[in-house]
Amino acid sequence: MVNMAENSDSAGGGHPRANTMWGGRFAAGPDAIMAEINASIGFDQRMAAEDIEGSRAHAGMLAAQGIISGEDQQAIDAGLVQVLGEIERGEFSFSTALEDIHMNVEARLREIAGDAGARLHTGRSRNDQVATDLRLWVRARLDEIDAGLASLMRAFVAQAEQGADIVMPGFTHLQAAQPVTWGHHMLAYVEMLGRDRGRFADCRARMNECPLGAAALAGTSFPLDRHMTAAKLGFDRPMANSLDAVSARDYALEFLSACSICAMHLSRFSEELVIWASAQFRFARLSDRFSTGSSIMPQKRNPDAAELIRAKIGRIIGAFVALTTVLKGLPLAYCKDMQEDKEPVFDAADTMALAVAAMEGMVRDLAPNAEVLKAAAGAGFSTATDLADWLVRVLGMPFRDAHHVTGALVAEAERRGCDLADLPLDAMQAVEERITEDVYTVLTVEASVASRTTFGGTAPDNVRAQAARWRETLG
Ligand code: ARG
Repeated sequence: MVNMAENSDSAGGGHPRANTMWGGRFAAGPDAIMAEINASIGFDQRMAAEDIEGSRAHAGMLAAQGIISGEDQQAIDAGLVQVLGEIERGEFSFSTALEDIHMNVEARLREIAGDAGARLHTGRSRNDQVATDLRLWVRARLDEIDAGLASLMRAFVAQAEQGADIVMPGFTHLQAAQPVTWGHHMLAYVEMLGRDRGRFADCRARMNECPLGAAALAGTSFPLDRHMTAAKLGFDRPMANSLDAVSARDYALEFLSACSICAMHLSRFSEELVIWASAQFRFARLSDRFSTGSSIMPQKRNPDAAELIRAKIGRIIGAFVALTTVLKGLPLAYCKDMQEDKEPVFDAADTMALAVAAMEGMVRDLAPNAEVLKAAAGAGFSTATDLADWLVRVLGMPFRDAHHVTGALVAEAERRGCDLADLPLDAMQAVEERITEDVYTVLTVEASVASRTTFGGTAPDNVRAQAARWRETLG
């Protein structure tokens, strides 16, 4: 284990220093409560790799600009690589007295590289450092979540391809409305997730500017090349206003809002899965891998993963509300309040990634129950609109009249306790004498979905075409 310097050294006057990085600013060491409220190392150590990446870029630029020597830069770089290795191998002992990841890394660097290490912080402040680290961290999560969403979309597309011809009830108000196809239903989520990815991509494009070099808040008198550090770190450009650079957290809010909207979509599909997997619906079967049994009721297969994803939006939107509330009313520039940005962002990112992965697993394993779906699709007079459309098309009836006649036919079928397709022709003709045998061709669920050929409609051929388009887009 590597021992970190705790605040054991003394400042003038015999008082212990608060910690080695602040110097003698405080007469007495912070008590345990202050240390605890002040420290972020418990959570911001997750940004160690980003912190070190940012520091290496900064040191490289300082040397290129002649602000530090080449030897110092090499010592810093080797030292930082060593620190990263220690952290990755779990050999690093994080110190609460050193508050945060920035000072923990820097203190260890000074142990390793001495004076060279102490030159790293030239022209830099923790304010631009933390702003840079969190941007790098969020950007990496954005890329991971995007990849996860792309594979979830592929899973939905596979379902759509396999189920392009499976007929199921389409609902409004959760009342059977018109038959649709399983594939069409799956592709509805592909569309939603495609927009979610668009929101994450927008967020990424807007956030990809570098705060490093803004220093504490005003910029610095050292001749930094901010374009160089921005480019080294993969940012499009340096942020143009130093006050904004250290204070802006709207990208984190944008990330959390994109997560919230995406989690809302996952929550909706989760709810459908819970309904579909129920013994009352039996529309689809979730695999054992994503269901659990009950400890007391042997017959139960509970859709726990779907329920948990349905719930995760609570945490994610909670993170958005928490951080918006933290930032609201903060004066420029950096305020310590901003340290409260990390935990909601970390938690939401973890939750989002897990929910997407679990949803992908469920979708891949999901097995539609085609017979049950078809029977349900035909129930509830679901082809009534097809009947009305037939009256319009074949008999030339105005749609409003056709709607009225169809209503009377539905009432007749209801009275007889049969489906529209089983209503005898004479019973139909008693309502509208011009109806012919031909009407039965539109009353099956297959005919109904096959006729929905308008762009974006549920017809199996449309579904196949849209699934192919998405396959192409998703690669
Ligand atoms: N741990 C701090 C944070 O997360 C780092 C920046 C501290 N800056 C300062 N001037 N106290 O926000």
